[in-house]
This record gives sequence, structure tokens and C-alpha cells, in this order.
Amino acid sequence: MRLKHLSLTNFRSLTRLDVELPRRVAVLVGSNAQGKTSVLEAIYFLAAFTSFQTHVDRQIVNFHEAKNPLAVTRLVADYQRGKTKHRLEARLILEPTGVNGQRLRKEILLDGVKRHANDVIGHFNAVIFVPQMAQIIEGGPDERRRYLNLALAQAVPSYARALSEYNQALTQRNALLKALAERGGNSEQLQVWDEALVKFGAQIILWRIQAVQEIERFASRVHHELTRGTEILRLAYEPAYDPLPKPNGQLGLKLDTVIDRSSIELNEIQEGFLSRLKQIRSEEIARGVTTIGPHRDELRFIINKADVSDYGSRGQLRTTLLALKLAEVEWMKDRTGEWPVILLDEVMAELDINRRADLLKYVNTDQQVLFTTTDLSFFTPAFMEGSDIWDVKDGVVQPR
Ligand SMILES: Nc1ncnc2c1ncn2[C@@H]1O[C@H](COP(=O)(O)OP(=O)(O)O)[C@@H](O)[C@H]1O
Ligand SMILES: [Mg+2]
Repeated sequence: MRLKHLSLTNFRSLTRLDVELPRRVAVLVGSNAQGKTSVLEAIYFLAAFTSFQTHVDRQIVNFHEAKNPLAVTRLVADYQRGKTKHRLEARLILEPTGVNGQRLRKEILLDGVKRHANDVIGHFNAVIFVPQMAQIIEGGPDERRRYLNLALAQAVPSYARALSEYNQALTQRNALLKALAERGGNSEQLQVWDEALVKFGAQIILWRIQAVQEIERFASRVHHELTRGTEILRLAYEPAYDPLPKPNGQLGLKLDTVIDRSSIELNEIQEGFLSRLKQIRSEEIARGVTTIGPHRDELRFIINKADVSDYGSRGQLRTTLLALKLAEVEWMKDRTGEWPVILLDEVMAELDINRRADLLKYVNTDQQVLFTTTDLSFFTPAFMEGSDIWDVKDGVVQPR
């Protein structure tokens, strides 16, 4: 993957940006609140069609422009995938509705043709690392599901579509469960939603089993190197509907071992999931909500048999996150055949001097990387030699 040109209009404080990218490394330097992170956020937006900072697309529209009744935010990337050149464009269009309302319409164009985001996601790949991502480990399970969803949507074709079908089935099923709980009725109406939930849910579970195992392989190798062989990192995927029976008496206990689910096949997950939904039907009607399935899955990070979110030190947390992100890069290359564009926000400031050197070692000559920093002295002179520097000030990006 090689990003050649980026053009932004009204993206946060970057009212107008038009820039050629270096083949390898760009270091964006500037003081705080100048727009450095926003550049990375924009590039990532073209890979995921969502911001890593917010679920609310409106927030990325330049707020001065948003006062305009027909405000448009545009992101355009020219890039090369394999030997072919492409142009990807995202448009966020604010449109007046009703009396005083405004609604935001999102349009995605690949090579000039309007497409559904779910079908284009994964065409342009990027991996982003920002310090707030410690939330993946420290935050609630929804942070980890979001992490998995964003990574898988880029690397597994049809994942994004299956996930939105699953979420639609889930919403319908929950509405029906609630209605049955409040007003009663024929519970057989659930059958059609059970089947939809299982069709997409089982597929998501299988993809997550495979992906977590593959990412773990890369992450534990990197982590082993970063900790000079003193620690072993493992990733434990814990599906809320678990196709494997739980060991006796361990129900609900946090196990610090990792269970191998790699031999499970799709039809086994489907059958097991469907019959489990039948078993718990009356309980779910009483609660008025779907209690099992990928929307409740968990992912845990285990170092030397202890859960990092419970027992990890700050240093372990950072190293785990770095290993996870570097693993994501390698995994994406493995899955897609292309290096993703790597976006590293203020990472050098977060790392001690040894880890800084380690990180720079991982950046290889085939990869395209964008760093942001407030301080160029974090980078070695040798590294700076092969890098382009961009000054960022007041939403204006100026290559030196
Ligand atoms: N929607 C928006 N419209 C205009 N400016 C914005 C918007 N969202 C954030 N900003 C401004 O962008 C700046 C932050 O940009 P950021 O990329 O985080 O800077 P940096 O990474 O250089 O610290 C802040 O000054 C903030 O007020
Ligand atoms: Mg920043």
C-alpha cells in the first residue's frame, strides 16, 4: 500500500490540505493543538470510514464550516495497491432537514464510483496507534470489541457487512424480546431473528477465533523481543456464546489460560448457537434482551499468566499495546498482501529510550509511516536522514 497524495477540505481545523506523501517516513512536527493528530485521523478515516476518536462523524466537520447550511467535508487519497493506482474519496455532507435540523450524509467513492462503505472498507489499509488506545486494555469490553471490529473489517472481506447484518438482526430481536416481555405474545416469532443472529453471529465468531489466534502469534513474538525474552503475552478470545463447553465448575471464573478453539467449524458454531438460544429463550424473554453472541464477546491480554488489565504495570501496558499494534501491521500484511500505512501519534514521547530504538527498528524500508511529535529530538539523526519533516501550525501543513 502506498499513499501518494492526500487532499482534505474542512476536516477539523484542516480547512485545506493538499500534500504529496514521501515514499517512506514523514514526521509531522508542531506544538499542541496545531492539527497533527487530525492528519492521521483523516488518513485512518479513509481506511475505516469512522474516526478512532469519535463515533460522531459530525465532530470531524470543521466547526466554522458547519454553520454553513450546505457544508461539505472531503477526504481524498490517491494510492497504489499492488501495481494499480486508485482514488478513494469520502464526503460528509451536511444537509438541512425540517425546520432547524441538519443531517449528515456520508458518501464513499472508489475510482469515481459511489459505493457502499461496507464494500470498500479494506481497499485502503491503515493501522493507527495513539496513546489513548491504552483504553483497549484498560477500558471496558466494548473497547476491545471495537478494536477487533476495526481490525477485522479492514482485513477480512465481508466482515463489515456481516457485522452490520448481525447488528440489525440484534436490534430487531431485542425489540421483539422487549415486546414479548412487556405484552406477551407468540414467542415463535423469535425464530426468524434467531436464525439471522446465528447466520451472521457464527461467522463473526469464527473469524474472531481465527484472527485473534493469528494476531497473537505476531504479538507474542514482538512482545517477547520487546521484553528481552522475560515475558510471554497471550491473547484470550472469550466469546459470549462459546462453542466449546466450559470446563466443569469453572463457569464464570476468569481463567488465565488460553483455550484453543481453532478446530471448530462454522456449522458446529451455528448449530450450537441456535440450540443455546432455544434453551435460554424464556430467560431472554424475561430479561427482554439478547444475552449471548458477538455483541458481548471479550478479549483479554495475559502476561505470564496474569491479566494485564488487572495486574499489569504502566510499562507492561505500554509494551503490550505496542506489541499489539505492531502485530496488527504484520497480520494485515499477511492477510492482504500489502503493508498498511502506519500512523503513529506521539508514540515516541510515551516510550523510554530503549523502546524508542526498538520501535524505529520495526519500521522497515517497505513500509510507509507517519509519525507525529512535538519534539524531533526523540528521533535519532540516522532515522531523520531517511525521513521527510512536515511542520504543522494552525491547521496548515508545510513540508520542509
Ligand atoms: N471540528 C473541528 N473544527 C475545527 N477545529 C477543530 C475541530 N475539531 C478539533 N479542532 C481543533 O483542532 C485542534 C486539535 O487538533 P489536533 O490534530 O488534535 O492537534 P495536535 O495533534 O497537533 O495537538 C484544536 O485546536 C481543536 O480545537
Ligand atoms: Mg495530537
